[in-house]
Amino acid sequence: MASLAKVQILFLSLCVFLAPSFSSKLYVVYMGSRSGDDPDEILRQHHQILNDLHRGSVEEAKDSHVYSYRHAFRGFAARLTEEQASQVAGKRSLHTTHSWDFMGLLGEETMEVPGYSTKNQVNVIIGFIDTGIWPESPSFSDAGMPPVPAGWRGRCQPGEEFNSSTCNRKVIGARYYLNGYQAEEEQEKIVSYRSARDSVGHGSHTSSIAAGRFVDNMNYSGLAAGGARGGVPMARVAVYKTCWRSACYDVDLLAAFDDAIRDGVNIISLSLGGDSPQGDYFSDAISIGAFHAVSRGVVVVASAGNEGTPGSVTNLAPWIITVGASSTDRDFISDIVLGNGAHFSGESLSISKMHASASIISAAEAYGGYFTPYQSSYCLESSLNITKVKGKVLVCRHAGSSTESKLAKGTVVKDAGGVGMILIDEADKDVAIPFTIPAAIVGNRVGYRILSYIKKSRKPTSIIMSAKTIIGSRSAPQVAPFSSKGPNALTPEILKPDVLAPGLNILAAWSPATANMNFNILSGTSMACPHVTGIVALIKSVHPSWSPSAIKSAIMTTATTWNKHQKPIRAGPDGRKANPFDLGSGFVRPKQVLDPGLVYDATPSDYEAFLCSIGYSDRKLQLITRDNSTCSSKVSTSALNYPSITVPNLKSSFSVIRTVTNVGRPLSVYKAVVYPPAGINVTVVPKRLVFYRYGQKISFTVNFEATAPTRDYVFGSLSWRSRRSWVTTPLVVRALSSRSGLQM
Ligand SMILES: *[C@@H]1O[C@H](CO)[C@@H](O)[C@H](O)[C@H]1NC(C)=O
Ligand SMILES: *[C@@H]1O[C@H](CO)[C@@H](O)[C@H](O)[C@H]1NC(C)=O
Ligand SMILES: *[C@@H]1O[C@H](CO)[C@@H](O)[C@H](O)[C@H]1NC(C)=O
Ligand SMILES: *[C@@H]1O[C@H](CO)[C@@H](O)[C@H](O)[C@H]1NC(C)=O
Ligand SMILES: *[C@@H]1O[C@H](CO)[C@@H](O)[C@H](O)[C@H]1NC(C)=O
Repeated sequence: MASLAKVQILFLSLCVFLAPSFSSKLYVVYMGSRSGDDPDEILRQHHQILNDLHRGSVEEAKDSHVYSYRHAFRGFAARLTEEQASQVAGKRSLHTTHSWDFMGLLGEETMEVPGYSTKNQVNVIIGFIDTGIWPESPSFSDAGMPPVPAGWRGRCQPGEEFNSSTCNRKVIGARYYLNGYQAEEEQEKIVSYRSARDSVGHGSHTSSIAAGRFVDNMNYSGLAAGGARGGVPMARVAVYKTCWRSACYDVDLLAAFDDAIRDGVNIISLSLGGDSPQGDYFSDAISIGAFHAVSRGVVVVASAGNEGTPGSVTNLAPWIITVGASSTDRDFISDIVLGNGAHFSGESLSISKMHASASIISAAEAYGGYFTPYQSSYCLESSLNITKVKGKVLVCRHAGSSTESKLAKGTVVKDAGGVGMILIDEADKDVAIPFTIPAAIVGNRVGYRILSYIKKSRKPTSIIMSAKTIIGSRSAPQVAPFSSKGPNALTPEILKPDVLAPGLNILAAWSPATANMNFNILSGTSMACPHVTGIVALIKSVHPSWSPSAIKSAIMTTATTWNKHQKPIRAGPDGRKANPFDLGSGFVRPKQVLDPGLVYDATPSDYEAFLCSIGYSDRKLQLITRDNSTCSSKVSTSALNYPSITVPNLKSSFSVIRTVTNVGRPLSVYKAVVYPPAGINVTVVPKRLVFYRYGQKISFTVNFEATAPTRDYVFGSLSWRSRRSWVTTPLVVRALSSRSGLQM
């Protein structure tokens, strides 16, 4: 079985990844926004530049050329030596449906939100930059769908097991990008499906979460049985396959953005990202590609990352919607019964069960070969003594941050003759794994109780039952432990992640090329991202003229920080109260997003001003944007009209200005309701906003004053409240003590 549960994001920079014997590397020479030249002329210019670099050798120049970006922006990718290069490319990997019901969106073929028609979703086109698609999956059937929207300029690129008639009225476009991957990996390395066909499963999974058709009788080995569908089952899917096995290269990503923007997608969904810490916006293909997309009205949604630690969140650009992962109220558990009658339950997708009790031992007792008991307690390959394991249940450990496969540990125990496994993994105890033997994951508390039973009993035994589906078993949503957290390591003034969506144990379509399954259950921020993509498509279908930032604002200001039991959302694994670094503005609420009341809007030029505020030179700005913009009037980084407010270095007092646009009833009155962060005096001027027409904008000032130094970040919120709406933004402040000055 291949990639299961959360697939790690790996962003090995190219320099690290290449063997030292390589004398040349792949680089992106990025030339900024397109200025309207003829694409052939641009290609000629790229060859000319390479010609010059290769001192006039036309063959070498053409050989080194990998891609030209000719549509949405200009530039090219080429194999260059270090001195020839001006810009380095990076390598990325994948981050690795009850959820829509859980969010309150009910329905089958289309999901109607009371008071709105979302029928226009047939005109919304979502571009997925991922591992491709399995077009024959029932989730991508085009039965009953109207013709492809007029104006669609995409294509169905033929390739292996994929021809121009493989696309349909659901999957309306499919392209693949292999050049960057091939240039970096060894040329001969065989890649299965040299086409948009998905051999990994990840791309089929993410696309069906956002836009899968209704499929009756969908299940995972009988678990989680029922009908399944994406958020916008009638929206169109365009596939841009850039990720091969688990690697995706910047040059391919940029080419995919370039094509997707030109093809005419409305939304780009990326369940992938780099390793933290993220590099500068200018050196990050996703930031650059997304900038051009958003400048052309295309919304970009991306996953926050699966590293889970403070400051690890990625996809930090303010023009991207960055999504963290939460649980839902559905769980997959196996019951564990010990010889003394004690009952426990553990997380599992293992459908095999034990028919009788068996002896249970700690894996540390079964050490074999050159392994120490400590090493063997992790059930690593070859670390177990078959004589000691045979016929027994083993208690194994999993190191929190390790990349060891939990699935593989089940196989190690099975191969050593074990009949069951209890795996102790405090950090990710809620991530269900499809073990091949009866097995379950427990946290430290249960793990120690089982180990102490083993120690105290003369003949300890246990039995593990097969996994079952439980609904409503816990307070949900909860922030998934692996979901990457703030603060934003690159620009602390911008809060990331932006919002939270379901990403734990999500059932969706899969590629039968992997493990011969049509549906699979996966966990990761990769699964959270397409939930928000689906919600963006809903908004797009009702409010087609809204800008990407207005859509983003609607999703953020209507999100909630309360769980289904009206208690504050908590963060796993320890269940502490979550804060905006865990959940951003909160858990998304698709039923509320269509009527946010007010939005915090921003234009491409506001994002340019933001880039100036973080120290971009005119030249660098012009490369990322258009030819003539300059950083003449420098504004504060906090001035970007973002739907959350972060003041990372409050000295004594600081003021932030925001502007809200009325998208609710023409005549409406809003009152400021502030929950100030501890130790911070927050005043809002004016306290009351009176709107007379739709589209009217009103600015207000939020003043922060430190009444006591706060050693760390403190959190509060500002809501604009009318009779119909609550428009809420988190307030995140760190007050620096002027005396100690230690916090830097
Ligand atoms: C395209 O593929 C379908 C099945 O995938 C096949 O029936 C059809 O003959 C193919 N067409 C061409 C032109 O290869
Ligand atoms: C599970 O799915 C299979 C087809 O994939 C179907 O035959 C079976 O009836 C389903 N089981 C349940 C319990 O829904
Ligand atoms: C495995 O355990 C048995 C019984 O305790 C012992 O005799 C044998 O030497 C062990 N083998 C290895 C490879 O450790
Ligand atoms: C850039 O500025 C120059 C001088 O101000 C002007 O002539 C030119 O048309 C501008 N170019 C673009 C693309 O706006
Ligand atoms: C907070 O600020 C307001 C306005 O400046 C002031 O009236 C009030 O006394 C301040 N409160 C505290 C606790 O400093």
